[in-house]
Amino acid sequence: MRRFRIAIIPGDGIGPEVTDEAVRVLDEIESSGACEFDKTSFPWGCEHYEQHGAVVPGDFLDVLRDFDAILLGAMGWPERAPDHITLAPLVQIRQAFDQYACVRPVKLYPGVKSALADKQPEDIDFVVIRENSEGEYVDAGGRFRTGQPGEVAIQTAIHTRKGIERILRFGFDMALVRCRHLTVVTKSNAQRYGYVLWDEVLDELRAEFPEVEVDKQHADAAAMNFVRRPEQFDVVVASNLFGDILTDLGGSIAGGLGLAPSTNTNPEREYPSMFEPVHGSAPDIAGQGIANPVAAILSVALMLEWLRVREAAESIRRAVEKTLAAGLGTPDLGGELSTRAMGEEVLGRMGG
Ligand code: NAI
Ligand code: MG
Repeated sequence: MRRFRIAIIPGDGIGPEVTDEAVRVLDEIESSGACEFDKTSFPWGCEHYEQHGAVVPGDFLDVLRDFDAILLGAMGWPERAPDHITLAPLVQIRQAFDQYACVRPVKLYPGVKSALADKQPEDIDFVVIRENSEGEYVDAGGRFRTGQPGEVAIQTAIHTRKGIERILRFGFDMALVRCRHLTVVTKSNAQRYGYVLWDEVLDELRAEFPEVEVDKQHADAAAMNFVRRPEQFDVVVASNLFGDILTDLGGSIAGGLGLAPSTNTNPEREYPSMFEPVHGSAPDIAGQGIANPVAAILSVALMLEWLRVREAAESIRRAVEKTLAAGLGTPDLGGELSTRAMGEEVLGRMGG
């Protein structure tokens, strides 16, 4: 039987609450006989920071390197530690393990109300691929005259030909197995260097994928069209920053962040990939047992698909779909279920 080593990082706030339900789903898959998991949980995050002065131990990347996949809840709690410190290990994981493709499905499930009036499940079903290794989120910049009235901060985005080409190829490949439509989001009308390179690399690649219809949109127009015409999207590729912003919007048109899963994929499989909800640690509702566990559970489905345990991934998705179609939900969906009760409803529909 296939056996996978899974690193689990529940993190902060609602992270541990939703990760508990995700792990119960993993246990269910294991007891169905689909595969086996060696799970190791790491207590990293704000508490680790308060006790040891660091969010993660110094060797955390070496610790994670040999796992087949990483399942993450969420990191961060601004009242306890500054976000740029708590979230830094996440960015380091993505970069050290070259998890350059962040895949975020935007799918409105039947029974879920979209933030958009009149939009139905058939209107909202696309995937955003966020470039996850460079762009605006590289640590390149500096501060000058710190604390003085004339203080200067410089933050530089880095776009490489290699980085652009590999994420666009990933997008084209995904478009080929979906509806053969690719939208590339840049801002090349105003950012004349980085995004013009995106346009040029896209033009070079198009010839290799004649079956795929290509659409270019600037980020502002794309934001408008997510709201106005979500049905026009199939596969969307965006830079790190635009992908980050657009997927919060994507989450909300598909029923809220409580439902939105995400991957941080290393397509070459040289390093572990990481799977996590799009949402953060939601300190405003942490500890109340009302967080929606579905985004975390659907992240497990994405992880199993990546590990090529496809039938198990599908059984999770079907169970979520049936649960939502039955009108069941946590308070963010207008329902009354607790995190645990929602997890139970999904578990109860698996395998059927
Ligand atoms: P957030 O995603 O944690 O919360 C935004 C809003 O959505 C809140 O009102 C929250 O209650 C709601 N929400 C989020 N997930 C939910 C769920 N599963 N069920 C029901 N409601 C849910 O974003 P926010 O508040 O901007 O950030 C909170 C902390 O999380 C910050 O420290 C931030 O840096 C961190 N963060 C961490 C991420 C990660 O670990 N990958 C990603 C995004 C934010
Ligand atoms: Mg975000």
